[in-house]
Amino acid sequence: MSTFWSLWVMFLVVLNGSITLFLFMWAQKVEIPVLEDGTTGHVWAHGVLRESVRRLPGWWTVASAAFFIWMCGYLLMFPGFGGFQGLRGWSSHQELALDVARNDANIADLQAQFASLTPAQLAANPEAQQIGERLFIDNCAACHQRDARGNPRLGAPNLVDADWIWGGDDASIATSILEGRQGVMPALGSIGAGKVTDVANYVLSLSGAPHDGARAAAGAAEFVVCSACHGANGEGNPMLGAPRLADSTWTWGKGDLAMIEKTVTDGAHGVMPAWKARLTESDTRAIIAWLRSQSQERLARL
Ligand code: HEC
Ligand code: HEC
Repeated sequence: MSTFWSLWVMFLVVLNGSITLFLFMWAQKVEIPVLEDGTTGHVWAHGVLRESVRRLPGWWTVASAAFFIWMCGYLLMFPGFGGFQGLRGWSSHQELALDVARNDANIADLQAQFASLTPAQLAANPEAQQIGERLFIDNCAACHQRDARGNPRLGAPNLVDADWIWGGDDASIATSILEGRQGVMPALGSIGAGKVTDVANYVLSLSGAPHDGARAAAGAAEFVVCSACHGANGEGNPMLGAPRLADSTWTWGKGDLAMIEKTVTDGAHGVMPAWKARLTESDTRAIIAWLRSQSQERLARL
């Protein structure tokens, strides 16, 4: 606060305080002229209501005096009187800085403790779980949803099933998070709508989902193009982020014919941002630990 504003605030505080004090003292003494019947002579409603005079009750006087003294005490001890810091030297900035330092120290302790643990071990630690969940909600839930089950509209995959596009070991998942991932499925609508439907039926046949047998048989030949990325039997390729097609988990929808046709026609391009500027290795491990603990299927396998 500049000196001018500091003095201005002091002036306002003193002015307000003085007016209040003056009114308070004056009200004790002032004599209001009254008529013989004890009223002031002011009448309303054609004389039905008449204004009389009462002294302030004692408790009101005592309470007001107490508040006034309290105000002076407060301004003496705490910031409030212009730029004067108060005798206790308290400030909200300092309080916040202390809180932040205390919290940092806490977290540093925990992180040192967690540094030597794998995500699987962290998954058994309730404190690591809480940190992982909080980090996930803050950074990831917007796309992957609060329960980590993914969002087909953004192409954000389910992170709590046993199915991983880019690899499901701790190191691969950490790379997905820290470096980001972008799968590019080219738009192949140029092969013609009929052939798209054929190949989509063939894709359905890979996982034994209901499909048109004749169209699937015709689509098998088209799948040669697809197998370059998705593998000869649709097993997927984690190096390219090409998902496994021979299963029942899907990123971009429920895996019905229309969704597969649309993906083939228009292509697909999910963008997973890189988090290394915001998350540390140990943050990442806490998140993976939380995901692991949420993934019932995975735990059953371990
Ligand atoms: C802007 C939306 C967005 C945010 C925010 C986001 N993700 Fe993703 N994430 C995606 C998309 C889209 C993909 C799929 C990328 C692809 O394969 O094309 C993905 C993929 C992943 C994968 C790979 C999954 C697999 O099957 O291999 C992991 C792991 C992952 N995200 C974890 C996270 C975590 C943890 C966070 C928070 C720190 C996060 N994501 C934040 C959109 C997002
Ligand atoms: C150049 C490599 C490449 C080729 C060729 C390719 N794909 Fe893909 N495909 C991908 C990638 C990468 C993704 C994941 C895109 C994403 O989610 O970001 C994908 C996603 C898909 C999906 C969505 C999967 C899901 O879980 O939602 C389907 C279905 C699919 N491809 C079918 C096909 C078919 C059918 C063909 C052949 C006609 C084909 N792809 C050709 C790379 C390819």
